[in-house]
Amino acid sequence: MNSQEPEHNFIYGVATSSYQIEGSPNADGAGLSNWTVFSHKPGKVFEGHTGDIACDHYRRWEEDIALMKKLGVQSYRYSLSWSRIFPNDSGIPNLAGIRHYQNFTKALVDAGIEPMITLYHWDLPQWIEDKGGWSNPDIVEDFCTYANIVVEWLSPYCSKWLTLNEPWVFLHKGFITGEHAPGYKDLTFAAKAYVNILKAHAKAVISMREKNRHIQVGIACHLTYVQPFTESSDDASVAALQHSYQNEMFLDPWIKGCIPKGIYDIFGDANPELPAFDVADVVVNHDFLGINYYSRYVVMYKKGNFLNTESAPKTLPTTAMDWEIFPEGFTKVLDWCYNRYKTPIYVTENGAAFDDSIDPERFINDTERIAYFESHLEACYKSISNGSDIRGYYAWSLLDNFEWEMGYLSRFGLVHVDFKTLRRQIKNSGLFYRDHIAQMRNSIPQLVAIADSHTKS
Ligand code: FCB
Repeated sequence: MNSQEPEHNFIYGVATSSYQIEGSPNADGAGLSNWTVFSHKPGKVFEGHTGDIACDHYRRWEEDIALMKKLGVQSYRYSLSWSRIFPNDSGIPNLAGIRHYQNFTKALVDAGIEPMITLYHWDLPQWIEDKGGWSNPDIVEDFCTYANIVVEWLSPYCSKWLTLNEPWVFLHKGFITGEHAPGYKDLTFAAKAYVNILKAHAKAVISMREKNRHIQVGIACHLTYVQPFTESSDDASVAALQHSYQNEMFLDPWIKGCIPKGIYDIFGDANPELPAFDVADVVVNHDFLGINYYSRYVVMYKKGNFLNTESAPKTLPTTAMDWEIFPEGFTKVLDWCYNRYKTPIYVTENGAAFDDSIDPERFINDTERIAYFESHLEACYKSISNGSDIRGYYAWSLLDNFEWEMGYLSRFGLVHVDFKTLRRQIKNSGLFYRDHIAQMRNSIPQLVAIADSHTKS
């Protein structure tokens, strides 16, 4: 090997999650998930959409693997539905559910696509929700039991694992704003859930490695570039707190063994058990961090709001989610994350929703999405050239899918899905990504050279 060559190849993949694409919520003995229950409640999701059918991926997975082959992706990040594996509280795993994921994972490997499995992407078994979900400490053991079973059955085919997807998002939206399942607006529940999430991840990582010491385990965190709206000290101080809340609240305890002061104060007031909790107990070694990035967040001081913050008026072009397009923030959060935590990174999600227009020949020329991917891939390469150890990039998402409270309104796919016929059609962004992968695969030196030449020009 030439001394200039990197030890690790850079992997290109696509990402999805179980509830957003699978459908067939009752198939093969599955139990109810909290998202099935939540999405069926009136007023929770745009126009009452649910994931009952979604992309019908549970039944069309062979077609979806063929699509990934067409795109030339090297890896696929997907999640398992916990309630398919533990449908009830009997403690007995559902073999039919496990077999489904085993068949799928084997087929993926046979197709030359490396699996990356997320254990929990927000669809919690309803039987666990019914006993308090994340705010009940029992969840720590329940999560480890689930993690151990799937590692036992699937780690012969999959070496890269993520425990949780975006703990900050499911805590914030599930317990503070109520936009996601279970739909609470309750700081006390949130503060309890916070401690249980910290414990569940740390304990699961240790027991997964005990099951199979060859696997690599990480966590997928949503990072946002937080900026103060003005230079006033009020805006600066709420931006600092917001940054701790969105970016450090989980990674600091797990990696550095401390809870940021502002977060400790907020949750400590709401959860009197917090002072008795020893953060050192949740420090855990990660093989890699998964980073999901979409946008920046500019905040200003607003007394009385949660964290005394409010979103500042948007000044940049936005996606269909009204998220500002800010690739520079991507470089900044990747640089920040690598410098602070010194752990190899995979970008486990990045992408954009736009209102795609389809012409009569079903030609989907989603130029805005292509521009988003181009600028963000470049921003990622820039961070590599700044010295970050980034080992791969997963585009969100393979397919248009069920976008949580937005239902099927927001389309993030490289592949268009007609939700009436379930027909899939590769968009031009999918073709762009295919060509980009073919041009760039396995060539970090090339990526770095491109980023450097842009810096110099
Ligand atoms: C992330 C979620 C993912 C998807 C994208 C758009 O926060 O992990 O499921 O909804 O946003």
